[in-house]
Amino acid sequence: MELKIAYRMLLFPIQMFYHIVRASLLSLLPSSKKDLSKEVVLITGGGRGIGSHLAKEFAKQGAKKVILWGRTEKCLKKTAEEISLSGSDCCYFVCDVANRDEVYKQAKVVREKVGDVTILVNNAAVVHGKGLMDSDDDALLKTQHINTLGQFWTTKAFLPRMLELQHGHVVCINSILSQSPIPGAIDYCTSKASSLAFMESLTLGLLDCPGVSCTTVLPFHTNTEMFRGMRVRFPQLFPPLKPEVVAQKTVDAVRTNKAFLYLPWTMRVLVILKSFMPQVALEEIHRFSGSYTCMNTFKGRT
Ligand SMILES: NC(=O)c1ccc[n+]([C@@H]2O[C@H](COP(=O)([O-])OP(=O)(O)OC[C@H]3O[C@@H](n4cnc5c(N)ncnc54)[C@H](OP(=O)(O)O)[C@@H]3O)[C@@H](O)[C@H]2O)c1
Repeated sequence: MELKIAYRMLLFPIQMFYHIVRASLLSLLPSSKKDLSKEVVLITGGGRGIGSHLAKEFAKQGAKKVILWGRTEKCLKKTAEEISLSGSDCCYFVCDVANRDEVYKQAKVVREKVGDVTILVNNAAVVHGKGLMDSDDDALLKTQHINTLGQFWTTKAFLPRMLELQHGHVVCINSILSQSPIPGAIDYCTSKASSLAFMESLTLGLLDCPGVSCTTVLPFHTNTEMFRGMRVRFPQLFPPLKPEVVAQKTVDAVRTNKAFLYLPWTMRVLVILKSFMPQVALEEIHRFSGSYTCMNTFKGRT
């Protein structure tokens, strides 16, 4: 027994070295992409913003069916019609992900009317965009209910069938603010940090479940209405991402089974800096980059 443990301990650093070298080499090579032609994709918040681009991208890349969830029927209908007109199969259901009963009820309706969901994209989110003392309690709670708990309910609704089929993928559109929070969006940053922990835990929990994977996407500021009015100090240096680019890179990450995707990749540097820099230096970076005050001009969705 002790010999076995000693053997494993000796092997461990070699395994680590092997995985790091292998992953680095693989990242340089074009990876094979999984076929989407049998996939039924459900996107929460699929009516507008990044969600609608995700829906169009999944359809474009050959998904069998795309299902949209959201609260505003007008947006859902418009996106579904656009996708259907391009020749892909798309439908929508009105569903508020913060409402647990509604999620379970609509998941049942989806299973009966459309079939088993094999790719779940947790994209729906809101931002209240204020500091703690300026936020009313209900607004703070609402963000947590939509951005964090909503994922609990959708994942609980669809993951069991994926595990039975040994085929499925859970995707989370997170944010770089989960790892590098800013003032003035305390509700959002907290919910995204919590959602990141949810995905990290889920990803590890599914290690022994063949055929079921996870992808977490952490984009930088993206050009949608969500953060309308937010002003970064050097927009030429840090331009907002285009939602269609976020969508395309997300679908690529799903098709190549990538667990975590930083957009742009340079955002990883921020995370590395945070792990060893003294707090005063980090504060200086926030001051210099303007992220410290960027929410002062925030207006949000109209
Ligand atoms: N924009 C950015 O700068 C940025 C950066 C990084 C990450 N992200 C993330 O990307 C994702 C999409 O954001 P976005 O920029 O596309 O924002 P957006 O344009 O405001 O879209 C948010 C979507 O979520 C839906 N939604 C909100 N509350 C919902 C609820 N309770 N139930 C169901 N659907 C709900 C909205 O539809 P209804 O209102 O009709 O329900 C809408 O379709 C979010 O997770 C966000 O955190 C955004």
